Amino acid sequence: MVAKSTAIAVRISPDSKAVQTPLMMKTPDGVYINIHEAALLNYSAMQLHVENSNYQLTASLVPDAYGNKAYLHAPSHTPWRTIIISDKATDILASKMILNLNEPSKTSNTSWIKPMKFVGVWWEMQTGKGTWNYSDYPDSLGKDGNLIPNGKHSANTANVKKYIDFAAASHIKGVLVEGWNTGWEDWFGNWKENVFDFVTPYPDYDVQEIVRYAKSKGVSMIMHNETSGSATNYERQLDTAYRFMNRFGFPAVKTGYVGKIIPRGEHHDGQWMVNHYERVAEKALEHHVMIDMHEPMRPTGVHRTYPNWMANEAARGNEYNAFTDEGNTPEHETILPFTRLMGGPMDYTPGIFKLKGYAGYAPDRQLHSTLAKQLALYVTLYSPIQMAADLPENYLAKPDAFQFIKDVAVDWDDTKILEAEPGEYITIARKEKGNNNWFLGAITNANGRSADISLQFLQPGKKYIATIYADAADADYQKKPEAYQITKKTVTADMTIHLVLANGGGAAVSFIPVK
Ligand code: NOJ
Repeated sequence: MVAKSTAIAVRISPDSKAVQTPLMMKTPDGVYINIHEAALLNYSAMQLHVENSNYQLTASLVPDAYGNKAYLHAPSHTPWRTIIISDKATDILASKMILNLNEPSKTSNTSWIKPMKFVGVWWEMQTGKGTWNYSDYPDSLGKDGNLIPNGKHSANTANVKKYIDFAAASHIKGVLVEGWNTGWEDWFGNWKENVFDFVTPYPDYDVQEIVRYAKSKGVSMIMHNETSGSATNYERQLDTAYRFMNRFGFPAVKTGYVGKIIPRGEHHDGQWMVNHYERVAEKALEHHVMIDMHEPMRPTGVHRTYPNWMANEAARGNEYNAFTDEGNTPEHETILPFTRLMGGPMDYTPGIFKLKGYAGYAPDRQLHSTLAKQLALYVTLYSPIQMAADLPENYLAKPDAFQFIKDVAVDWDDTKILEAEPGEYITIARKEKGNNNWFLGAITNANGRSADISLQFLQPGKKYIATIYADAADADYQKKPEAYQITKKTVTADMTIHLVLANGGGAAVSFIPVK
C-alpha cells in the first residue's frame, strides 16, 4: 500500500528500519490509517519496513533463533492483517474490529474474572527505596549457608501488611507483591535457566500469614511470577505455580520475561514465544487465574478468546520514568491508544503523585506529567486491572486528589471518544458498568490546551455532581507538576464544561448522579 504520511507514531528498532505495529499514520489531507494484525496465535508477529524513497511498506515476520519465519501444519491459517481508515481520529480509537476478528471466549464461565484496581510493593523498588532481593549479590550467603539480609527487602510481611491496610482503607481490591520469592540475588541478565521456582518465599515473607491477613481485610493478593526470560522453566512449573496460587487464593498473576529468552534467545514476539504466552493463558484459564503479562508480544485482541488475559505491558509504561533519565515524553500517552492499545488493554501503572524526585529515592528523576494528567490516564488508557502505582504515603499526603483513584471504575458499559489527535490530545468519557456514574479523562502533550466539552453523553434530565480534578493555573509538567485544583459543580447533559490543561497536563472528572 502507498501512504504518504505527515505524522507517524511508531517505535523503530535501533538496528533496522523495522517498525512494530500498530502503525498509526495520517495523510496530508487528513486521513488516519492504522495498520496492525488480529488474532496472532501460533505464528510470528508482523513487522513493517519503511522504504523512505517511495513511502512503501513491506511486511516481514519476526524470525526464530535460526532465522526461520514460522512453522505451520496444514490446514492452518495466519492472523488477520488489519487496516482501519477514517477521516476522524476518534473513529480509529472507537474501532472494535481487531477485538472482533478474534475467536469468541474459550469459556462461558467468567464469573471468577473480576476487574480490579490494585496497589503494589513495586514502585518502591523501581525508585530504589527498597529491593526485590533479600540479600546483596554476590555476598548473599553467610558461612552457615543462609542468605544474609540486606535490610532493604521490600516484600517483608510487615511492609506488605501496610499495603494491605492501605488497600482495605481505600477500597482497592488487590495488592501485588514483587520480590517475594527466592532468586532475585542474580536474576538479571545471567541467562540462567532455573533462577525462580514460583513457590519458595524469602525467609521474611510469610505467605500463609499474609493471605490470612489480606482475607480478613477483604483484600486479594496478586501473585508475581518473573521468569527472568526462562520461559521453558516457567512452562515446566506452570501447574505447580498456579496450584500454589489456587491453594492460597491468589486470583491474578503478573508475569515477566526480562532478558534474553531461554531457550536459544528466541524473540519475545516470534512464534515460539507467541505459543508460550498462549500456553500460559490457557493454563491460567484452566486454573481460574487472571493474567497481567509484562514483556509479552504486543497484543492483537486475543483477550476476546482468553477473557482471563486481563492486560499486558508491551510498551513503555510509567516504570520507564523510574529507571531512565529521559523517561516518557508528554506526548507518549496521547500516542499509545493509537498504537499499543489498539490490540488490547495496557498495564501502564498510572497514578504517580510524587512526580519530582520520587520522594527522595531517585532525586534526579522526574515524570513528564502533571498530577491531574496521572488521574486522567485511568480513563484514557483502558485496562480492566489498573494499578495505583505510587507509594501509600504519597497518596495519604493528597487525599483529595486520591479520591479520584478510589472512585474511578475499571469496568465499563459505554465509552465515548470525545476528542483525539495522535501525539496531541485525547479526551474520553466512560460509563461505569452497572450504574450511572461517568468518568472523563483529558490529556495533552507538552503544549497546554483548553477545551469545551459537551456533556451530551450524560443521561438527559439527570443531575450529576461533577468533581473536576484539574491542573492548577500555574501547573506545568516541568516546573510545577504537582499543582492541582479540585472544583465541584452540578451539571446536566445539556451543559458543557470548560477544561484547561497545563503543558504536559490533563484533567479528570467524575460525574456522580445526584440522589
Ligand atoms: C519488568 C516489569 O515490567 C516490571 O514491572 C517488574 O517490576 C520487573 N520487570 C521485575 O519483574
